[in-house]
Amino acid sequence: MPDSNIKLFSFQKFYPIEIVKAKKQYVWDSSGKKYVDFNTGNGIGFLGHGNPFVLGKIKEALSTIYILPPSFKSPIKEEALESLARIAPKNLDSLALLNTGSEAVELALKLLYKYKGKDKKVVYFTNSFHGRTLGALSITSSNPAYNKDFPLLNNTLILPYNDVYALDNASFENVAGVIIEVIQGEGGVIPAKEEFLKTLYEKCQANDAPLIIDEIQTGFGRTGKLWAFMHYNVKPDILLAGKSIGGGVPVSVVFAREEISSKLEAHEHGSTFGFNPIAAAGVAGAIEAYFKLDVESKVQRKSEYLINKIQEAIRDVSHASVRGKGLMIGISQHAQINFIFSCLIKKGVIISRAARNTVRLLPSFLITKRDIEVFTKGIKECWEEANGERVTEENSVRISSNTLNVWYGAKSS
Ligand SMILES: Cc1ncc(COP(=O)(O)O)c(C=O)c1O
Repeated sequence: MPDSNIKLFSFQKFYPIEIVKAKKQYVWDSSGKKYVDFNTGNGIGFLGHGNPFVLGKIKEALSTIYILPPSFKSPIKEEALESLARIAPKNLDSLALLNTGSEAVELALKLLYKYKGKDKKVVYFTNSFHGRTLGALSITSSNPAYNKDFPLLNNTLILPYNDVYALDNASFENVAGVIIEVIQGEGGVIPAKEEFLKTLYEKCQANDAPLIIDEIQTGFGRTGKLWAFMHYNVKPDILLAGKSIGGGVPVSVVFAREEISSKLEAHEHGSTFGFNPIAAAGVAGAIEAYFKLDVESKVQRKSEYLINKIQEAIRDVSHASVRGKGLMIGISQHAQINFIFSCLIKKGVIISRAARNTVRLLPSFLITKRDIEVFTKGIKECWEEANGERVTEENSVRISSNTLNVWYGAKSS
């Protein structure tokens, strides 16, 4: 920040390159250098930078009306509602629009306590991430440093992720409901085991404990299906979407069974920016793009290519494995993740990080074979350069190999 003494809080410190332009799956810095964007704003830009469907709707909203309280309707809001009805799971017949993922999680927690009673416990899992607000932090366990110094909700119960035995033996008598990511994102891109999710679903049903599926990262086609839960034989009672659902505009959506959401009185929630016209335009444009551009089948095809190429790249690298689904891919590896992040920047690739040593890829569905090769070539070179940067016990991959549900028969050595 030139000519200013004001400092950013540490959590918002800038990386020392300035991004000045973006188009499709690429961004450019102030020196004119081009990068392939495998991060897309932590998964927001799944439909690509400057998606014409999204831009078109936003421009229309900007030139008509973009300031309106949540309680007033407008044509773009009606259009967003119709679009959302197209992607809502059939059993979820109510919804609310908010602004961030964490906010959606807060509302979902309120729904559970309201529906089952505030003395009941919300079940969450080891290695989870649900956001940074205090309620969301109370059910986040991916890194103790995130929440250890803050007062958290008491009425929660943590269970081990992917542990069918522990789940079978847990009592759900005092449970308000459950929140889960079907592929844990921040925790290291860990998919739920089929049997685990099935057991959880049946247990929720048997105890009338609503199941919240947090698809803020996995939703809206990211994993090759509209919702990641569709890879499994389960259904949520509450579904959370965020990140890419607005095509780049900050917006989150809570879908719920009306039987649950109707318990919440009008005065018990609200948001100044919730369901504003720009958010509505982003959502309407994103959903139009999703169907017109046949996003799902492109993700499936590109995912296969990407995973194959990564498997080739890690063949000679010890302690590396790949997992994930669609275009949400994690590579566990033993070089220092911050070294790999900076090294790849030099090679013209921007990635995301997860857990301690996981390279997380959340590219746009527009990614090409050429882009994928730029990444695999770059990471191979970085691994070679990282020879002197091997991990220590302290920063080694935290997730034990038996929790790594390898969907693609990926090797782990
Ligand atoms: C699964 C999941 N839930 C919730 C959140 C929080 O969303 P936000 O950062 O928009 O508050 C995230 C963000 O990464 C997430 O991945």
